[in-house]
Amino acid sequence: LFVDLEANLIKATSAEELDLLRKDFLRSGARIGFVPTMGALHAGHLSLIDLIAPKVDKVVVSIFVNPKQFGPKEDLNRYPRPLEQDLKLLASKNVAAVFLPRVEDLYPENFSTYVVNKRFSHVLCGATRQNHFEGVLTVVMKLFMMVRPQIAAFGKKDYQQLQLIKAMVRDFSLGIEIDEGEVVREESGLAMSSRNQYLAKEQKRVAATLYRSLQAARSESLKTRNKDNVVKAGKQVLASESELALEYFEVRRRDLEEFETEIDKPAVAMLAARLGDVRLIDCLEL
Ligand code: PAF
Repeated sequence: LFVDLEANLIKATSAEELDLLRKDFLRSGARIGFVPTMGALHAGHLSLIDLIAPKVDKVVVSIFVNPKQFGPKEDLNRYPRPLEQDLKLLASKNVAAVFLPRVEDLYPENFSTYVVNKRFSHVLCGATRQNHFEGVLTVVMKLFMMVRPQIAAFGKKDYQQLQLIKAMVRDFSLGIEIDEGEVVREESGLAMSSRNQYLAKEQKRVAATLYRSLQAARSESLKTRNKDNVVKAGKQVLASESELALEYFEVRRRDLEEFETEIDKPAVAMLAARLGDVRLIDCLEL
């Protein structure tokens, strides 16, 4: 284990080191709060740390760019990995330890057991990102088993991911409390994402219309309960942005079930769009 004394941040860089640390925490009766990340940390991640820190004795953050949740043509190789900067940010927060596993810590040779949600893994984002949610659920399950937290926090920006993780915790009786972080936005309304770094200035302006389209859907939902009208109002805002290729714009129940025509339960508007070769997602609870 490496302890950066100045920052008071413990770094566990293998499964064995994490195990030592966890046993140490266990001996002292500490409640563990966990924030799994893929690094390139921004205000959204930091808000998750702030959300659970008051409820636990030790916050553990993991940084692992999970190859199993990227498709063959996706951005695994160029995904940002500013480790030094991430560690500085974590040291400035109420974080006890950071887990920086190697691929072999997560996926030993002959790894062959996966977690899949048979209802919702292949809709919305899962329709175009075929094995994405299988990769997400598998790595989150694995990290949960290694860290054994009492509480874990995930952002609502990845709404489908959050709902699938909650379903996994329920279905497998994991007994972990899942805390939900609100979407953190830039001044323009653009939802914070590690992938925003890929965007050029003009693209950022275009990307900000995504939030405006969700707001338009929300305004419409205050006037009508008709799902199609709400979706139409949202899509209309995006119609003038020819650079944006909309993948989907949907209004669903918050548990991801579909509405027939009437929005008669708490709902969420969700979208994914491509801007050049950058894929962006966003959502807004109605
Ligand atoms: O949201 C993310 O950053 C990732 O999907 C997660 C939950 C850390 C799993 O790799």
